[in-house]
Parts: sequence; structure tokens; C-alpha cells
Amino acid sequence: MLLVTGGAGFIGANFVLDWLALSDEAVINLDKLTYAGNPENLQSLQGDARHTLIPGDIGDAALVTRLLAQHHPRAVVNFAAESHVDRSIHGPGEFIQTNIVGTFSLLESVRGYWQGLPPAQKEAFRFLHVSTDEVYGSLAKDDPAFTEASHIEPNSPYSASKAASDHLVRAWHHTYGLPVLTTNCSNNYGPYHFPEKLIPLLIVNALADKKLPVYGDGQQIRDWLYVKDHCSAIRRVLEAGRLGETYNVGGWNEKANLDIVHTVCALLDELRPRADGKPYKEQISYVTDRPGHDRRYAIDARKLERELGWKPLETFDSGIRKTVLWYLDNPDWVAHVQSGAYREWLQKQYQS
Ligand code: NAD
Ligand code: TYD
Repeated sequence: MLLVTGGAGFIGANFVLDWLALSDEAVINLDKLTYAGNPENLQSLQGDARHTLIPGDIGDAALVTRLLAQHHPRAVVNFAAESHVDRSIHGPGEFIQTNIVGTFSLLESVRGYWQGLPPAQKEAFRFLHVSTDEVYGSLAKDDPAFTEASHIEPNSPYSASKAASDHLVRAWHHTYGLPVLTTNCSNNYGPYHFPEKLIPLLIVNALADKKLPVYGDGQQIRDWLYVKDHCSAIRRVLEAGRLGETYNVGGWNEKANLDIVHTVCALLDELRPRADGKPYKEQISYVTDRPGHDRRYAIDARKLERELGWKPLETFDSGIRKTVLWYLDNPDWVAHVQSGAYREWLQKQYQS
């Protein structure tokens, strides 16, 4: 079985759902259920004996040690993190605590377990750490995309905390021999994405007749990857990745934020036209830029393609259409995530 951490969040939940759709190998899902952890993401697994959701912190060494001893996973896949750049600017403490101290504690618990395994199981064990392209910093317009050899130059409290966790994972391999793998992925989008991040925020705000906030000039570039393609990359790296290596994961979809906004507006115009017949782009509102805003991310995913034969299946056009349709088809999920805590965040970030 697998121990997945952070599997009630956006990417982790997609990973667990896809994993259990493709295999019968059970999943223990350890999640602190912060504002971003949502058991509703896993509702379709209710009553499924292959999945157990355990509320808890990766930094709780006693709990993690007990779970490892009890369930004997053959691998740990670590999604657990504080993941939102804007929140890291308002309050970096939680990012240091979970992403750095929590990852350290998790590595120590896993190391203790791994060292006690019989030789064949010890050999087969894997610790896969899910990280981000943001650890590489920001690119100028004509710079080549990030490779695994790019400098680590994080610029936000979020990306600095993720870079620190990547360094710890690397060191636990080099020093203790822990069989680790790290993936550094570009911006994901797709079902179950919490509407604090750009794409789901646009969809949810557009439908609620609210403003569509564009930071600064809207010309910042992100490289978008459909979440299910990210999940297939993680499965492939877990299966065949070389120990101690990092693999960049990206969708070859560089887009300026403003283009994303226009694409989402046009899809909604087609699929759920406004009652007054006007285009959704009329809701666009330019707001103050994010402090230290990274200008451009772009991922060179050729190592993963060359070594492990992975390629994304979705184009941006196919993935964004699926995503908008998912939000239109799941109004209850959208209504439930817009809790009091979510409204407080909107007030803090957008004064809305
Ligand atoms: P998310 O914020 O949606 O989910 C994070 C999950 O981790 C939540 O379920 C939360 O409850 C849980 N969690 C937080 N602190 C925890 C702790 N101390 N112990 C146990 N669980 C805890 O994030 P996401 O978008 O699903 O991202 C998952 C991972 O992928 C993160 O490590 C993130 O850095 C990385 N990543 C995300 C993206 C992206 O575009 N979303 C891109 C690249 C990498
Ligand atoms: P986000 O989804 O927060 O991901 P990240 O900061 O990790 O890339 O933001 C994606 C881009 O969209 C980023 O350049 C910031 C921008 N953005 C806006 O312009 N308006 C918004 O309301 C949000 C949330 C993000």
C-alpha cells in the first residue's frame, strides 16, 4: 500500500482518485485538513475499503511512526504543504512549519521505518516528494525553460519553503541513503482546485457576477499542466524514476495570465452565457500587483520524457474546457468550499 500525505487537497485528491481507479493497491491518506484539505474531494471513495483518510499532521512524528508500523507502505508520496503564494506573503509562519519543519519530521519518521525494513522491502521502498517549479525563481522573456540543472532561486516565502524541503529530501538521500525521488511541477489546473488560485477563482467569480482580479499588467507567464497529467507523471516517476533524481513536470503550455482570463471568459460565454447577454470579460478588474511577483515560469520536461517516456495527454484547450465543465457540473462542491474561512480570505486579499 501507499502512504499519501496531503491527499485531501487539490493534487493529492486527484492522485488518490486516479490511483484507485487504476489499481487495487490501498492508500492511507494522512491530511491535516487545513482550509485547503477537503474530504468532499474524496466523497466518491466513501465506503471503499482501499482508502483510509487519517486526519493528522506530517509533523506529528508519533502518529506518522505509528501509521508506518501499522500499515507497512511500500512508498510515501508527499503532497502535504501550504501551497498558496499570496497566503505565504500574508503569513509565512505556517509555510515554514509545514513545508520545512513538517517535511523534516516526516523524513525522520520515514527514515526510522525504512531502516527497520527487511532487505528486499528496504530496496523496493520509495519516498516521492512533490515540489514546484517556483523553486527555480523567475525567468526573463527569452530565457530557456527551467531544467533540473537550473539554479535554485526562490523568491516568495512559499517557494523558499518548498526549496528548503527539496534540499532536505536530497540530503536524506545523500547522507542516509533514503530512496527518494523529487518532482518539480508547473502550475496545475483541473477538478477540485480550491478557488483561491487563479483559474478556479476566475470561474467561481465570473459565475457569481464578481470582479475577475488581474494582478499588475496581467502579462506574467505560467506553464499550465492539467492535474491528471501531473498525476500520471508522479505514477511514472514512482514506478521507474532513478533514486535521488529530480524530474521536472510541465505541460508545454506557457500562457500570460491575461490570456488565461480571456480563455476562461470565452468558454463561459459559450457554455453558460450571462443573463444580460454581455461578455464575462466585462468583469475583468486590474488590481495591485503581488509583491515580488515572479514574471515567468517555464518547464523543460524533456528529462522525464527521455528517461521515462512520459508526456502530457491534454492540450491547454482540451484541459481548460474539461475544467470549466467540471465547475459548471459541480455547483454543490463550489458552494461548500466557499465557507466562512474562504470569505475571510477574499476580504483580506481583495477587500471584497
Ligand atoms: P493544496 O493546498 O490544495 O493541498 C495541500 C493539502 O495538504 C491539503 O489537503 C492540506 O490539508 C494538507 N496539509 C497541509 N499541511 C499539512 C500538514 N502539516 N500535514 C498534513 N497535511 C497537510 O495544494 P496542492 O495544490 O494540492 O499541492 C500539493 C503539492 O503540490 C504541494 O506540495 C505543492 O507545493 C505542490 N505543487 C502544487 C502546484 C499547483 O499548481 N497547485 C504546482 C506544483 C507543485
Ligand atoms: P496562482 O494560481 O496563485 O499560482 P502561482 O502564484 O503559484 O503561480 O496565480 C497564478 C498567476 O495568476 C500568478 O501570476 C498570479 C496571478 N493571479 C492574478 O492575477 N489574480 C488572482 O486573483 C490570482 C489568485 C492570481
